[in-house]
Amino acid sequence: MYKLAGTVSGDVGLHEFDFTVTGDLRRNEYIKIWNELDGWILGRVMSIVDVTEKTATAEIIGYKDERGFLMQPQSTFTHGTKVFKADQTFIIETLGLKSGGIYLGMLEGRNIQVHLKKEELIQKHCSILAKTGSGKSYTAGVLIEELLERNIPLLIIDPHGEYLTLKYENKSEEERRQMEKYGITPKGYASKVVIYTPSNFSINPAADKLFRIDGINLSVNELYDLFPLTDAQLGILYQSINEIKSEKEFYTVEEIIKKVSESRSSAKWRIVHFLERTRETGILSDSPTRIEELVEVNKASIIDMKGADPKLQQLIVYRICKEVFEGRKMGKIPPFMLVIEEAHNFCPEKGFEKAVSSNILRTIASEGRKFGLGLLVISQRPARVDKNVISQCNTQIILRVTNPNDIRALSRGLEFMSSEIEEEIKRIPQGVALLSSTSIEMPIMVDIRVRRSEHGGRAVEMEPVEKKKEVRIKDMRNTSEEKEGKRSMIARLLG
Ligand SMILES: Nc1ncnc2c1ncn2[C@@H]1O[C@H](COP(=O)(O)OP(=O)(O)OP(=O)(O)O)[C@@H](O)[C@H]1O
Ligand SMILES: [Mg+2]
Repeated sequence: MYKLAGTVSGDVGLHEFDFTVTGDLRRNEYIKIWNELDGWILGRVMSIVDVTEKTATAEIIGYKDERGFLMQPQSTFTHGTKVFKADQTFIIETLGLKSGGIYLGMLEGRNIQVHLKKEELIQKHCSILAKTGSGKSYTAGVLIEELLERNIPLLIIDPHGEYLTLKYENKSEEERRQMEKYGITPKGYASKVVIYTPSNFSINPAADKLFRIDGINLSVNELYDLFPLTDAQLGILYQSINEIKSEKEFYTVEEIIKKVSESRSSAKWRIVHFLERTRETGILSDSPTRIEELVEVNKASIIDMKGADPKLQQLIVYRICKEVFEGRKMGKIPPFMLVIEEAHNFCPEKGFEKAVSSNILRTIASEGRKFGLGLLVISQRPARVDKNVISQCNTQIILRVTNPNDIRALSRGLEFMSSEIEEEIKRIPQGVALLSSTSIEMPIMVDIRVRRSEHGGRAVEMEPVEKKKEVRIKDMRNTSEEKEGKRSMIARLLG
């Protein structure tokens, strides 16, 4: 027997209707109503309007026709029609929820698992947008765990060093208690996760390896992308690099600095300053990190950028994206998922700060799918992320958003947004997300499952630092080389 929820009364339209509530009912609850013409219709309680009278408003979701398409009824319900609570099977069939695949959580308030197709994520991109502290990184962690379980390579751009905890199993007692409900067990992914630092091991002792970019034969274009140069400065750079090229096949940034310093124009100092700053970061190397190492089956490479200044972070993202996009095109690396945390810093919307990584990220968003390069973009400021990137994401996970500009940006960029959904996302509780995906008939609320591995927000015991001693010594040598470089620079400037 179906459980009675109420009877149709008051305003009745084709998309919404009011009904008088019988017994207990909560917002977002799924209901079903019989319609002579189309059979059972699925609906969802949007609001309980009047607490004393117990009147509720429900939206009509629709019914599946014989071809499997979600259809809307063509006639309105008559007053007095009974409203029932919807049963699991009816909800699953009508919403088109699949079993198997990427397990995200439970349909809010129901014991129904929500899965996304793996292909949906990798080939069609995904975004996680929400205000700060609402659970974006936590949710991203859930997706990463699921992809790791399926051996999909991941490359994670991690500005705050939040993702290294994927290595350890979730120790939170509170969350462990909830694991049974979600049907999962604790698990750490230490054997698959490798942390790279663009700094060094003293700044980032938790890192496993150094991340370096190719400092050999930097072209004028590459440098121009990094520094805002005037025409006069650009001229000097061109001339200097051309001269070096005529003298030798391979050259370092050191040699560019030397050549630029020889120029008679005072415009050279700004170039020297920028080049010096880049060199001092230690990121340039003649043995750069290879993309074949970063993107490997059964591996999640985390570029932990803690300690790197914002411009350098953008440069790193730019270089990585350019190389992996080319690498994917040529089949040098397997299909994979690129995770970009704090995406507003790397592909900002027009009118906000510029980033050297913007264009390549836009290209990956629009063309990556053709080459099996999936994007997962995460941001707490939806209004500040390039809308060309957001609009290319076919799966949208939206947690709580309250900033009016951000809500407006979401409404402009996403087809499924409506004024009701806008209201909804202002009130989403922590841990719950609005999910819209091409494989689900309509946006649904998902209670995100608890993490199997540790979430980065919490303190975690680090690995012992001993094993990195050897490399540290090398690092110190780098530093003294830098010092030497700086000394000779000063000497050059003075002399
Ligand atoms: N699904 C969930 N289940 C349990 N706890 C959660 C869930 N989602 C988030 N949390 C908790 O909420 C807190 C904030 O989550 P998280 O760090 O993911 O926020 P965020 O949106 O990434 O914030 P920021 O913008 O600061 O990066 C975390 O400490 C986490 O434990
Ligand atoms: Mg976060």
